[in-house]
Amino acid sequence: MGYFFLSCKSSKFEVFVLILLLGSSALGSAKTFQGESCSSVADTCSSFVNYQYPYDLRLQQIANWFSVDPVALFGANNFNLTAAPDPENEIIPGNQTLRIPVTCSCIGQIHRVNSTVYTVKPDDTLSKIADSIYGGLITYQEIAAVNNIADPNKILPGQQFVIPFPCACLNKTYNGHPVISLAYVVSPGDTLSKIAAKAGAQAADISKLNALNNSLLIVGDVLDIPIPACSSSFTTTATDYGLIVASGSYQITADNCVQCSCGSNSTDLYCSPAPALLSGSCPNLHCDGTKLAIGDVKEQALSKSCNVTSCIYEGFQGKTIFSRIHTAEQNTCPAPMHAPLYVPISSAPSSLPPVSAPPPPRPPSPSLQGTAGAPLPTTGAQTPGGPSGPSAPPPSFGFLRHESSDFLVMVATLVCFFSLWF
Ligand SMILES: *[C@@H]1O[C@H](CO)[C@@H](O)[C@H](O)[C@H]1NC(C)=O
Ligand SMILES: *[C@@H]1O[C@H](CO)[C@@H](O)[C@H](O)[C@H]1NC(C)=O
Ligand SMILES: *[C@@H]1O[C@H](CO)[C@@H](O)[C@H](O)[C@H]1NC(C)=O
Ligand SMILES: *[C@@H]1O[C@H](CO)[C@@H](O)[C@H](O)[C@H]1NC(C)=O
Ligand SMILES: *[C@@H]1O[C@H](CO)[C@@H](O)[C@H](O)[C@H]1NC(C)=O
Ligand SMILES: *[C@@H]1O[C@H](CO)[C@@H](O)[C@H](O)[C@H]1NC(C)=O
Ligand SMILES: *[C@@H]1O[C@H](CO)[C@@H](O)[C@H](O)[C@H]1NC(C)=O
Repeated sequence: MGYFFLSCKSSKFEVFVLILLLGSSALGSAKTFQGESCSSVADTCSSFVNYQYPYDLRLQQIANWFSVDPVALFGANNFNLTAAPDPENEIIPGNQTLRIPVTCSCIGQIHRVNSTVYTVKPDDTLSKIADSIYGGLITYQEIAAVNNIADPNKILPGQQFVIPFPCACLNKTYNGHPVISLAYVVSPGDTLSKIAAKAGAQAADISKLNALNNSLLIVGDVLDIPIPACSSSFTTTATDYGLIVASGSYQITADNCVQCSCGSNSTDLYCSPAPALLSGSCPNLHCDGTKLAIGDVKEQALSKSCNVTSCIYEGFQGKTIFSRIHTAEQNTCPAPMHAPLYVPISSAPSSLPPVSAPPPPRPPSPSLQGTAGAPLPTTGAQTPGGPSGPSAPPPSFGFLRHESSDFLVMVATLVCFFSLWF
């Protein structure tokens, strides 16, 4: 910004430009969330990025783009696994909002995602990757910086880049409640209360965390949203010790044997045996010496109270499942505990061929490989009109995030030119 003051010699116009620039900050370009600061590489956590793609996609495609497990995607979005024996082949309708679970790491003293790796395809440009595939969550400059790409115009098919989304761990709590952070890109029509309702978070928390201070939301800005979560109190030696599950989602743990859910308005983690289709051979999931499996509750009505016995999951280590029996006398018998209701994958009509139809053969493409490098079965899952299709939105080189401030800078530049002219 200082540049414009230097290049404008006329004091009258300096004042004008100053007013314009002040105007822009009064309009409140909310500071775009660029990742929470951090001091130790040990400071990692699970977090989410919010994601929307304009065309129908097979879930496997999204799982590839973000290097995540399809089952974890199901859990993060509370989809019914029992209803989808083949999660990777489910079709996500265009524009459906998804929570993508990622691992938030500490890279160069900033929290950023290190778990998403993209493999460059022929025809890719860095800005197409940033804007068309990752939907404004990241700029091509940020990808170039973290991957030490000297010339962003020269990337080669087969190269692999970390896509360093901004993220936060928030010490796993906000305002004294357990939370998981969600990186959210402001879209047209968003208001603070709409975003809060969509994410299941408190508007006041979002405002405070992002220092919004009543400023206008700007389309393309990224916000850090603290989603309430259910924390666990597992045995300290458990492999999944410290598990925290966002409200309105579940996680599969204990080698696919246990599902831990957090209701959309709940703070109580509820763990029960995972759907049978996931769990090949699971250890005994019953509490010692009882007929109760983890998650089961037995109620015994007494004359003036209710004796409630439950079998509670407390983590796993190797093939050992930790659990304990909890008995409490309550005034009344509670409603039976069960996992929170699932969210249906929207049943919008799809332009993709039916899941049962074999995909058309395609030459193997390096970008359609899983994180482990193993080719995936859904090689043909590319949508017509997808990122490599003819109707992909044109790359927009970095303008996406700060359209309004870029516009103000343009106006200021014009003013300067006129000031020098006269
Ligand atoms: C999940 O899907 C199965 C199979 O379609 C169905 O029987 C079950 O009721 C569903 N569960 C919920 C909670 O919607
Ligand atoms: C998704 O939203 C965009 C922008 O509003 C729109 O152009 C596109 O048609 C939508 N796609 C679907 C599948 O509804
Ligand atoms: C990021 O991931 C790479 C491997 O993909 C690893 O070598 C590196 O240590 C990771 N960095 C951090 C800060 O976790
Ligand atoms: C994080 O939380 C722990 C306890 O939950 C607390 O001891 C620690 O001071 C917190 N750290 C920061 C940086 O807030
Ligand atoms: C928030 O806005 C008020 C009035 O609009 C202003 O006085 C205050 O300094 C602002 N605070 C921050 C942190 O920007
Ligand atoms: C969530 O809980 C709060 C307070 O306990 C309540 O006011 C609100 O109506 C609940 N929302 C839903 C969707 O159940
Ligand atoms: C409550 O249930 C437990 C376990 O079934 C049993 O050991 C205990 O005696 C019961 N208490 C009462 C008051 O019936």
